[in-house]
Parts: sequence; structure tokens; C-alpha cells
Amino acid sequence: MSDQSTPSQTEQTLANLLKEDRRFEPPAALAAEANVKADAYDEAAADSDAFWATQAERLSWDKKWDQVLDWSNAPFAKWFVGGTLNASYNCVDRHVEAGNGDKVAIHWVGEPVDDTRDITYAQLKDEVSQAANALTDLGVGTGDRVAIYMPMIPEAIVAMLACARLGAPHTVVFGGFSADALASRIDDCGAKVVVTADGGYRRGAPSALKPAVDEARTKTDKVEKVLVVRRTGQDLGENGWDDAVDVWWHDAVGSASTEHACEAFDSEHPLYVMYTSGTTGKPKGILHTTGGYLTGAAYTHNAVFDLKPETDVYWCTADIGWVTGHSYIVYGPLANGVTQVLYEGTPDSPERGRWWQIIADYKVTLFYTAPTAIRSFMKQGPDVPDRFDMSSLRILGSVGEPINPEAYVWYRHVIGGDRTPVVDTWWQTETGAVMISPLPGVTAGKPGSAMTAIPGISADVVDDEGNSVPNGSGGYLVVTKPWPSMLRTIWGDDDRYVDTYWSRFRKQGFYFAGDGAKKDTDGDIWVLGRVDDVMNVSGHRLSTTEIESALVSHPKVAESAVVGATDPDTGQAVVAYVILREEAGDGGPEIVKELSDHVRREIGPIAKPREIMIVPELPKTRSGKIMRRLLRDVAEKREIGDTQTLADASIMDLISAGQSTSTED
Ligand code: PRX
Repeated sequence: MSDQSTPSQTEQTLANLLKEDRRFEPPAALAAEANVKADAYDEAAADSDAFWATQAERLSWDKKWDQVLDWSNAPFAKWFVGGTLNASYNCVDRHVEAGNGDKVAIHWVGEPVDDTRDITYAQLKDEVSQAANALTDLGVGTGDRVAIYMPMIPEAIVAMLACARLGAPHTVVFGGFSADALASRIDDCGAKVVVTADGGYRRGAPSALKPAVDEARTKTDKVEKVLVVRRTGQDLGENGWDDAVDVWWHDAVGSASTEHACEAFDSEHPLYVMYTSGTTGKPKGILHTTGGYLTGAAYTHNAVFDLKPETDVYWCTADIGWVTGHSYIVYGPLANGVTQVLYEGTPDSPERGRWWQIIADYKVTLFYTAPTAIRSFMKQGPDVPDRFDMSSLRILGSVGEPINPEAYVWYRHVIGGDRTPVVDTWWQTETGAVMISPLPGVTAGKPGSAMTAIPGISADVVDDEGNSVPNGSGGYLVVTKPWPSMLRTIWGDDDRYVDTYWSRFRKQGFYFAGDGAKKDTDGDIWVLGRVDDVMNVSGHRLSTTEIESALVSHPKVAESAVVGATDPDTGQAVVAYVILREEAGDGGPEIVKELSDHVRREIGPIAKPREIMIVPELPKTRSGKIMRRLLRDVAEKREIGDTQTLADASIMDLISAGQSTSTED
């Protein structure tokens, strides 16, 4: 693996792999009734077009496709060519037409206790139609982009579906991102309308969002209208409302008609753009289109969670601002007509048992969360979850980063009462849907392994030359065949799309995921983490370069290097090494806090470094490349590795001798 891999994380996973021999067979009853059985793998492999056509039949098409896949202009794919459909109709209207209008689509749980709302499919249809009419009045037409910057309230889902209904691609920006990050995303995709809220509740208090939209508007001139949900009722401040631009949701949407006839769009019509960190400072706008994406989201949600829409109550704890919220809160579950829980706040508000209380209250059967959350609950011990009756649970899912076997086993035992399979699902913003995962009714799960590609998906682990590695060996994770929910391009940058994903194994035509992986002796896949300059902090993707750029934009900073160091709670944590400008002297007593606040302001609280070290030099090769591997050794308090290629080996002594400074305030 390259110098840029994360050795300690990799080593840990490899060590686990060596000693891990636990297996969890699927419960017999679940296996007998499973939606997807073992024969699906062969069936999909035998005729992949026919397999995907069957999956696309889950959806309602206005016009059926003429061709399943057009790969003639690879890597620019077209799926279900000639077909037309409306994503919003598929997620809402058709369930009402099928007689399920009174079924609850969303059990919404606000963070303040007893602030709840149940929304049926019929009500959702009315509200989505109203929002579509209101957006039309605000000037949104087919093809226009709309940015959504919202807390976890039902209106966020309504806004996304209203955009889909109009064929106006949405770009949802995570509410934790700063005004700068919001502005650059609005600017990159040219969003003319922003949907937001005054704020949302987090950790027991209102947390403002609208001021960040106002600030973002000073940095981009693209925005014509801002549609604002009143959630918290907080004071917007003296200049917090601009009559020429700002419109209240309750006025515009509240007064709009509940009738909206939707149009069918081409299968390849853009559905949304989701920004994610890459290896440069500029986030990539990942483009997903309609027919293939919705097919992938609906199929995988059904297969991986063995979904029984009549009886299951599903809950995914991700934020709507990440791809998991797109595929597994909005498009997959709603296309499948489930009843789901949507929770606004933090897991420990007002007390540590809040999540488990919600599971007990709504009798949640399928639960999907991230390893970082599981690890934080593990630290608190089993006493809190043990107070709640969670016997309704039947399948537990994990996503976002490798799940360590201890966390997997704790999850299964303490939360799942040893009855529930755990599905460790590997996928990415780019893949749109789950790619590698156990099937709960088929696979004997191994703690720590995502196991094998699901039926229809072809993944492999290859060496530098693109050759499949034998069982027992490691290499790069690749996808060897196109799949319906694959990204179509990077918004406005086809070249970067080709370079980033398709040039590494151009000869073979493989998609390069950017992850390292190992096949164990049974051929099951263990994902080891990123092999590029992308970090994974609490399951959130951050680019080292993006944070370095934020740091060097501070007037006192000359140069910086950022690494992702292993962290017991967050998987990886941001550790920054900073060289100050000469005129800044020692930077002053507050320098670490100043820099940390600066990163927070530039990107958002998730990018805040765990530690910032002020150093006199950075370790570089003779060609000037920063040796992050050595900096990771320091950050992880390990013996420093091989320094032979350093231009000046004494630098590491200086850096190691320096004081590490935590940014916790
Ligand atoms: O490194 C892998 C890790 O998260 C990356 C994708 O991040 P993002 O696009 O933000 O999507 C997160 C939600 C799908 C991957 O390249 N990753 C995601 N799931 C897993 C994982 N690593 C190991 N095991 C997983 N189950």
C-alpha cells in the first residue's frame, strides 16, 4: 500500500482479521422468510442486465426503458435508457394510489421531549405538492438547482422530494457546515434558491442556521430566494430578514395548492448533487441521476435490511446532509413505502438513553447507525440501553467506517440481544447505494468484515497492476462492472471524474474506490480504510488538503500539514502541524484556539483539529513532498518509521520534542 495509507488503522484491522474466528449464522426464521436468498448471487451473475431490469421493476415507470445499460461511452454510463419516471411520484404518490395513504411515512421525533409529529403518506403527498407549487412560484424550473440547508425536520424531506418532483436537482448541505462551505457549494452548482430554517434543536438548545445562509449570500451572488421554515422561533437579529429574498415556508408552502401533477423525466435526468471531500481542497459535486439511482437505493434497502414494508419500522440515524440520509432516509425507504422514524437531535439529549427510548417507543425493527456512535455508547456501558425494551429489533446496520469487532459484538449483544444480524455495509457517496454487505438471511457474519459484494455488484481487491489478489492478500478495492446507482460525473468537471475514479485502473476499466482492503482466506472482504489523503472522522469524509488550505488562509500561518490519526472514539481524528509566519512570532498564547476556531469557521465544527502542533519545520522528501507517514507516527505516539528519504532527518527530533496541544476547550 502507498505511503498515504493509514498504517495503524490498517494494522489494527489486520490483527483483528488474524484472530477473528467468530461467526454469526442468520436466525433460522429470518433465513426462511428472507427477501433475498443465496441463489440471487448466481442469478445476478448469470445475466446482469436481466437482474437489474427486475430490480428496476420495483419502481413505477411512466415509460419503460429500451435498453438496461449503455456503456458505450465509458465511464459515462446511462441506465434504463429511454425510460421516464418521477422520483417523487415513486416515493409518495404511488403509495397513496395503492391504498396506503393512511400509513405513517414518518414518525418525526423532535429533540425537545414530546415534540413529535406523525405524517402519513397522504399528508406527505399534500405537503410535497404544496412545496413543489411554492418552489415553482419562486422561479424554480426543471434543471434549476436548489440548495437545502436544514435541521432534521420533516420539511427537509419534503423539500428534497419537491425538488425531485420538479426535476430540479437538490444539493443538501450538512447543517454543521459553515457559511463558507455552504457558499462554495451554492456557487459551484449555481443554486438559485436555498431552503433553510431559522434553526434546529441540538443538545437541548436552539441552534441557528439562517445566519449562515445570510453570510453565505455575501459570498455568492447566485441566490435569488431563500425559503425559511420556522422551527425554533428564535430571534433572527436586526438584519436577519431581507424582504426581497426571504420567504417564510408557512406563508409560501402553507398557502399553496395540494394539487400538483408531476411530470416524468428521463431516467438520466439529474436528481441531486452531493458534495464530498476528495484529495484536493475543492469538494467534488457527485452527480446522481434518477432511474438507476432510485433502483439501486430501493433494491439495496430491501435486500440488505430484508425489508418487510407492511410490518417493519425502520430508523436510520444519519443526517439528511450526507449520502446515507439521501439513500437510506429519503429515496430507498420511501420508494419502498416503509414507516420510518426521523429524529432531530443528539443521542444524549435530554439523557443518554434517548435513542433507546425512541426504539422502545416506536418498536423499531430495523436500525442503521455508524460505528462511531456505537463506540461512544460502549464507553458508557450497557446499563443505559439495558433499561429499555428493544426486543422489537430484528436487524442492525452499520455504515461509514470499518466497524471494529468489539463494537460489532457489543452492538449485536447489548442492542440486539444476540438475536439480530449485524449488516456492515460498505459504500460511498459515489456508489449511491450499498455495494458490499452481508445479506441478513444468507450470510454468516464475521465481526469486522463487510463480507462480499451483494448480488448484482462485482467488487474485487487488486494489486498495483490491477490483478485480482489471491485470498489472504491485500490491495485496492475496486468495482469491476458498472452499477445502476453509480455517480455519473463530478458536477461541471468530467475530467476530474475520469481522473479520480477511472484512470488508476484504466486498462481494466475498474472503478477505483480509494480504499484499501484485504481478502481473508475465505475470500471475504475487510475494508482497511482510505489509501489517499482522505480522512474518515466519525464516519465523515474530510480531506487533509481542505483543512491545510483552511489553516494557511489564516494570516499567521506559513505552512501546514494535516494527518488523520487513529482515535478510539472517532475512528480517525484531525491532527495539524503548523509552521507560523516569521512575523507572527510564537503566535501568542491563544494561537491554538485561534487556529482551531478558524478551521471551524472555514469548514465547520467537524473539521476542528483534535490537536494542533506548532512546529519549526515539516518533514519533506528531497523533492519537497510532505511525509505524512512520519507525522502520523508522531500523532499516534509511535516510534518514528524510516526517515531515510527525508531531506533533513534531524527535523523529526525537533517535531517529536514539541508539545502536542489539544484544542479541546
Ligand atoms: O473509506 C470508506 C468508508 O467511508 C468512505 C465513504 O465515505 P462517504 O462517501 O462519506 O460515505 C459514507 C456513507 C456511505 C469509504 O470510501 N466506509 C464507508 N462504509 C464503510 C467504510 N469503511 C469500512 N467499512 C464500511 N462499512
